[in-house]
Amino acid sequence: MSGLALDFRLAEPADAAALGGFMARNFVAAYGHCSTPENIQAAIHEHYGEAAQLRQIQDPSRWNLIALHGDQWVGHAQIKSGGDVPDGVTARPAIELSRFYVDTAFHGRSIAQAMMEMVKSRARELGARSIFLSVWQEQPQAIRFYTKEGFTIAGTLVFVVGNDPKDDWLMVHTLD
Ligand SMILES: CC(C)(COP(=O)(O)OP(=O)(O)OC[C@H]1O[C@@H](n2cnc3c(N)ncnc32)[C@H](O)[C@@H]1OP(=O)(O)O)[C@@H](O)C(=O)NCCC(=O)NCCS
Repeated sequence: MSGLALDFRLAEPADAAALGGFMARNFVAAYGHCSTPENIQAAIHEHYGEAAQLRQIQDPSRWNLIALHGDQWVGHAQIKSGGDVPDGVTARPAIELSRFYVDTAFHGRSIAQAMMEMVKSRARELGARSIFLSVWQEQPQAIRFYTKEGFTIAGTLVFVVGNDPKDDWLMVHTLD
């Protein structure tokens, strides 16, 4: 289905708890099976706890976008600039797409495509020549989406869930 009415806005400090709730729910839906319950809880606390979310919203190197359908939050993307860039990323300067989630109930409804347009536009505004990201090698839906959006695999990375290292792909999209 397409044509869903969408609005976008940047996250504010008052959104920290709600953003953490959105991310925890959707992280469990997408990745809850990938490790032990203890590791999943540790990852949620580390990345999506209210304090962690507040730090990220207030971090000037991060851009936190929320997609809404009416009052309902349906997506969240985060860009991080100025951090380390992996070796496989040759078009520089590069920015990291550090988070990209659509609410599970809204997959397949073109929200991801609209949100990615916003991400690419912001990356260009920031002067980036490429966007890179890390995606779990066992997440075919996301890999398929990123491939359709012009990202290609440029290496491997490790993402640690609690204390459980996971093999990720490094994917890169060149903007020019
Ligand atoms: C990644 C994400 C934003 C893409 O949004 P989406 O709405 O699913 O995107 P699309 O509708 O274009 O679907 C992507 C592709 O996956 C396919 N797909 C759907 N369900 C799938 C499944 N269970 N397994 C494999 N592929 C699947 C779709 O058919 C589509 O491919 P197609 O266009 O060739 O038919 C969304 O899936 C998501 O939020 N996933 C969970 C969070 C996540 O993993 N984010 C990335 C972290 S790096």
